[in-house]
Amino acid sequence: MKLTDIAKHVDCKKLLEDTLNAITVEAVDKIVASLPVVPEGEYRFNPAAPAAGWQAGKLHWYPVGGLMGNQANIKHAGAAENPIGERVVNAFEALIELEREKELLKDPQAAAPLTPRDAVRRYFDLPPLDEMPDHTEFIRELKPDAYLRALAKRIMVTLRQQAKGKDYTIMVEDDGIGQRADNVHKSLLSLGASAKPDKPYLIGMFGQGGSSAFAACSRSWMITRRAPELPDHAGGGVGWTLIKQFRPPHKRSFSYWAYLAASPEGHVPVLPESAADALDFQRGIKLAHVGYNFATSDQAYRLYNSLNHLLFNPVLPYYVKTKKDGADRMTGNAYRLSALETTGPKQHKEEDIRLTDIPV
Ligand SMILES: Nc1ncnc2c1ncn2[C@@H]1O[C@H](COP(=O)(O)OP(=O)(O)OP(=O)(O)O)[C@@H](O)[C@H]1O
Ligand SMILES: [Mg+2]
Repeated sequence: MKLTDIAKHVDCKKLLEDTLNAITVEAVDKIVASLPVVPEGEYRFNPAAPAAGWQAGKLHWYPVGGLMGNQANIKHAGAAENPIGERVVNAFEALIELEREKELLKDPQAAAPLTPRDAVRRYFDLPPLDEMPDHTEFIRELKPDAYLRALAKRIMVTLRQQAKGKDYTIMVEDDGIGQRADNVHKSLLSLGASAKPDKPYLIGMFGQGGSSAFAACSRSWMITRRAPELPDHAGGGVGWTLIKQFRPPHKRSFSYWAYLAASPEGHVPVLPESAADALDFQRGIKLAHVGYNFATSDQAYRLYNSLNHLLFNPVLPYYVKTKKDGADRMTGNAYRLSALETTGPKQHKEEDIRLTDIPV
């Protein structure tokens, strides 16, 4: 299948809409059923000859990272919020990286920031967040609090559920650098292929953080568009794919994770940029983990607490939405501790009140 051929089979705007609305396993599987997909098991991926057995004009289930035995890389046990934290950190990096690339466009010799904090100070005029409660000067013509809110809007984590008792879906969106469609398999769907070791202004570098979220759910989807500010975005299209966990037929073998690929090299399908324009999706990433493994609904709704604990003093603020009527701005517990000290609990009440309001 050629990279752009998917547009011949489906209405791409509708495919994007259906994907953004797919918050149950059934909804994801319905999308798969509407596409020309080779049934699992018919194509046996062979890393030495991935084109062997490839059926022209069809999408194939392709192992994440080009690795059939990807369980060891993907299945990192731990608390339910950890993979969500990895996605949020990736979003921080995506925002920083976009600014760094813009800086290099203006001045190819510009020295790189030395740390992630150095980067947010340079690119966003932002001090460490735990210092913000004491910060009284305006930042970029906004009061510090208003500035934090404006920045936080660029990263949103949303807990979605079709109806009570149904699966939870975790959606993460950012309007950072995004990835070109033809690079998704080498970045977002790679394992251990991080491009970061030479970028001290980004946070981690093991190269498989985000993928741990695949293991925490049964289906995922991902849509990405490279930032139009960068010259390499031109003709980059919109990368789109679904990811599924395939369980072993018997207990002796392992699960593996595969995504819908459009070429034997592992490229994801490309949708035309006009489809994303129609939905006002300009750049960055929208992804979701469907059927997320929260042990209890309490654990799902308490993401405000657990993420503020996990990302104790994050480099950037973000939003978490666990209820229909409003999102919580997230600045980490370090900020909350200094806010309580300097302004007293009263002023902080407005934000905390939602916590105790959480329906369980
Ligand atoms: N939100 C995002 N926007 C743009 N690119 C992303 C985003 N998230 C991930 N990527 C790309 O996918 C790659 C793999 O991400 P992943 O989290 O698996 O590993 P990593 O961030 O490189 O390393 P680690 O998370 O272990 O520190 C990243 O290096 C980056 O190129
Ligand atoms: Mg990461």
